[in-house]
Amino acid sequence: LDIIAIWGAIGYLLGSIPSGVILARLMNLGDLRQIGSGNIGATNVLRTGNKTAAALTLIADAAKGAAAVLLARHFSGESALQIAGIAVLLGHCYPVWLRFKGGKGVATYFGVFFGFAWPLGIVASVIWLTTAAISRYSSAAALITAGWLPVVMFFLGFRGYFFLAVVLGVLIYVRHLGNIERLKAGTETKIGEKVSS
Ligand code: G3P
Repeated sequence: LDIIAIWGAIGYLLGSIPSGVILARLMNLGDLRQIGSGNIGATNVLRTGNKTAAALTLIADAAKGAAAVLLARHFSGESALQIAGIAVLLGHCYPVWLRFKGGKGVATYFGVFFGFAWPLGIVASVIWLTTAAISRYSSAAALITAGWLPVVMFFLGFRGYFFLAVVLGVLIYVRHLGNIERLKAGTETKIGEKVSS
């Protein structure tokens, strides 16, 4: 129980740091929640046209995920890693500082897998980049990645971590319900497009 409480709290607090909101404010890009999709992630920062800010948001949000699982593994071992991985994503998606209206978790999800087992981070990135290159939709690339990664892990022998991958995948889907509707309706904006649907 102690491990769950400690790594749940540390993971959540790390995840709840709204990198995109902070960076957009520091770089005078305005309030992200009033721009584009209103999301606080790198995809939406890119809609301001500032690629540096978008890249920094991606790195910072991924770093939170990697830091949470690496710290948990270092100090408390593998079961703590799984708790920290779930908690950091929950913190990013439901941060108390933004009245629980956070991001969609994609960058942090990648960070978790890079921290957990970097080859899986590479596999996830390849799936995302390939899908994004073909579709030009950030959301669709994230959904395909989150759907396929548990399958890949199953066959690569990461079966003990299947639960982690499925829980994180479900969270990614839940956070993208609006995007799924827009994809179906054909109104989702493509990567780098400045106008939002
Ligand atoms: O990382 C979030 C991405 O998948 C969708 O973001 O701003 O288009 O809703 P957005």
